Amino acid sequence: MEPDTTKNRPVIILDFGSQYSQLIARRVRENQVYSLLVPYTADAHEVMALDPAAFILSGGPASVYDAGAPALPGYVLESGKPILGICYGMQLLALGMGGQVQRAERREYGPAQVTVTEASPLFSDLPSKLDVWMSHGDQVGRLPDGFTSLAGTDNCPIAAMGHGERRLYGLQFHPEVAHTPLGGRILSDFLFGVCGCEQNWTVASIIETSVRDIRERVGEAQVVCALSGGVDSSVTAAILHRAIGDQLTCVFVDTGLMRKEEAAQVVRTFGPRFGEHLIALDESDVFFHKLRGVTDPELKRRIIGETFIRTFEREARALGEVRFLGQGTLYPDVIESRGPDRSVAARIKTHHNVGGLPEDMELELIEPLRYLFKDEVRAVGSELGLPDEIVWRHPFPGPGLAVRVIGEVTRERAQAVREADAVFLEELRAAGQYRETSQAFAVLLPECSVGVMGDDRTYGNVIALRAVTTQDFMTADWARLPYDLLARASTRIVNEVAGVNRVVYDVSSKPPATIEWE
Ligand code: XMP
Repeated sequence: MEPDTTKNRPVIILDFGSQYSQLIARRVRENQVYSLLVPYTADAHEVMALDPAAFILSGGPASVYDAGAPALPGYVLESGKPILGICYGMQLLALGMGGQVQRAERREYGPAQVTVTEASPLFSDLPSKLDVWMSHGDQVGRLPDGFTSLAGTDNCPIAAMGHGERRLYGLQFHPEVAHTPLGGRILSDFLFGVCGCEQNWTVASIIETSVRDIRERVGEAQVVCALSGGVDSSVTAAILHRAIGDQLTCVFVDTGLMRKEEAAQVVRTFGPRFGEHLIALDESDVFFHKLRGVTDPELKRRIIGETFIRTFEREARALGEVRFLGQGTLYPDVIESRGPDRSVAARIKTHHNVGGLPEDMELELIEPLRYLFKDEVRAVGSELGLPDEIVWRHPFPGPGLAVRVIGEVTRERAQAVREADAVFLEELRAAGQYRETSQAFAVLLPECSVGVMGDDRTYGNVIALRAVTTQDFMTADWARLPYDLLARASTRIVNEVAGVNRVVYDVSSKPPATIEWE
């Protein structure tokens, strides 16, 4: 459990391990109500100290009667707060209140239609037939005393239940997923109709509380922050600067492996704001030197991570007394890195988050985005006046273009992939496809291919273009980009990037491929 960084009363989502738990937290916030996702094993006192406005119990993979199945902690019912149980959460609520759970006659995974049978604040102004998403093997068989059934299907007679007076509700289906089209209305009915929540989780309030908390924590101390040009570190820097002004110094290291114009953009955006408190270094010679002859992707990552940290460390030490390190950790990173119920997903590649804390530096971490989802970070960045190019920039790996130059990384090869990348992104933007894709980039392959230009045979470089759509970057699909756009990008790359005679488009999803090629 982490301490609350805001004074908003959160809706606590108790996490019983559903794949949709984060989504519930986001859906609540889309209603401008603060929410926190908390493991069901969290300490009762710590949770109650947050002064929850309500509880939502997530779904989960277990069956309530399994040995060792996650149980509903007693304090939740004792709190007297409104509760919404979803799927497994509904079954726990029914059991906790004295009802019964049984195996469904048929397990149900997929779309279903429920009929609303009873008027309740949970289904205000909704049609009596609702398309919903079911995913369960168990269901409530007997209602606890005082509850009524609110909706059902043939297979699942109690698909929703409620105890109006005690403000306890359960849904067997998943209102948080897009496959329940009116699910958002049901959630807002719960938040406002049942719980009386206030809509105070706004960009302005996020910034205001964050600035206040940073000032309280930092006092007169100095803070240092690694700026990469990406959205997370940029927003971190901007909000820290809003809070503590010149007590913040940002270090931007040009590794020679950044996207086109990225270094210039950082200096243009932050130079005027930070003045001498922006240290921008061109360290590309050092990075290319250390990468000479290296082809192994993991070794590239290690070398770049270490070189970056050494550079950053040197600059931070030169600043004198610094107490804090600002870092752009986001809420999904926090959620996903806590185990054992939310264990770190299996690492396929090590992800050096450039800007990570050098272990022996003894700086205290300050993470202003620790409770924010990406869309909230973007909104905060815009509100703080950062340009769209930064706020909406696709994510970029810490090792930068080094993992997009397959094989040895030289200055020339990095330059070639950077130019090809810039052309692709320019065409993507021009076609209105940039925000539709989650990540798009060019990769320079290690082998040459035969081509013909004019009357001459060529033997030139191959560029692969990659564009994906994804929610969470754990799985991804290749983007179905218009052929015209691909054709324009291809023609321009061959004409404008010296030494390239062939362009291919990557049509692999993740899994089995990964998003990056290395
Ligand atoms: P993969 O290639 O693993 O990428 O499907 C998933 C996401 O992670 C990014 N990525 C990295 N980010 N350091 C980073 O900070 C890395 O070494 C690294 N490798 C991949 C990738 O760009 C995608 O967004």
